Amino acid sequence: MPRPLPGVGKVLAVASGKGGVGKTTVTVNLALALAQSGARVGLFDADVYGPNIPLMLGVHRQQGTQAYVPIARADPKPYIEPVFRYGLRMMSFGLLVGEKDTVLSDPPLIGRMVSQTLRDVIWGALDYLMIDFPPGSGEPQHTLLQTVQIDGALLVTTPQDLSLLDAGRSLGMFHGASVPILGVVENMSYLACPHCGERVEVFHHSERSWAIQDQALEVLGHVPMDLAISRGIDAGHPLLQAQPTGPQVDAFRQIAGRIRAKLP
Ligand SMILES: Nc1ncnc2c1ncn2[C@@H]1O[C@H](COP(=O)(O)OP(=O)(O)OP(=O)(O)O)[C@@H](O)[C@H]1O
Ligand SMILES: [Mg+2]
Repeated sequence: MPRPLPGVGKVLAVASGKGGVGKTTVTVNLALALAQSGARVGLFDADVYGPNIPLMLGVHRQQGTQAYVPIARADPKPYIEPVFRYGLRMMSFGLLVGEKDTVLSDPPLIGRMVSQTLRDVIWGALDYLMIDFPPGSGEPQHTLLQTVQIDGALLVTTPQDLSLLDAGRSLGMFHGASVPILGVVENMSYLACPHCGERVEVFHHSERSWAIQDQALEVLGHVPMDLAISRGIDAGHPLLQAQPTGPQVDAFRQIAGRIRAKLP
């Protein structure tokens, strides 16, 4: 039975049908946009095999936490201090298991480990907790949905992959757990020319809207393909932290505003 996280207002899952669509980039920038609008925001990186959030926020740990024992603890009190960065509270497996350590590959165990770790973090009072789900519908996604009360899911897609949402199991996974889908963020939607700022349509449009209409999914916004976004995130200075204004910044702020309206 999914249980709420004490002190946390709304829990938001960010997911995608497949990997590499920019889900983590979008998650980090949206978390910053929400925080900059005055909300208290936490960020949990549930990607055990490719935990990228620390890198994108410019924090890293060389060695694993010595006393990290996620399962079978007698005392259920949260004990893991989150990292405070750019106004966010963040925890990731990248900080618990060290960059050079390997992670077990037993799926049920991974599911329990991630879900337990989420509860073991001292989140404090939060308005929003965003969880970066790994792509697909395996573990730890399944166990997280079964054990944590999630208020809404955000799907990140690229224009070419939009049709995959139909076939992708992410949608079914959230429907099955009765988690409302807040909408879709179309990432790398168009190219923002680095020289003149002009909007270049890189992808064909007609099939895109069909996929959304079929599923009655709302598009919460379009994020351009932009050098400032990738350069910033890869250097640990996400756009929303590094740059106060601009059309790309506005795109994220607008989406964050829509999320706030949907999950007040
Ligand atoms: N809007 C964008 N404009 C330019 N580059 C982008 C944009 N979004 C993401 N990228 C780049 O694309 C790459 C993949 O992004 P990211 O790691 O966020 O994807 P992901 O969906 O989380 O991947 P994974 O499935 O591995 O977790 C990164 O190098 C990132 O800098
Ligand atoms: Mg990612």
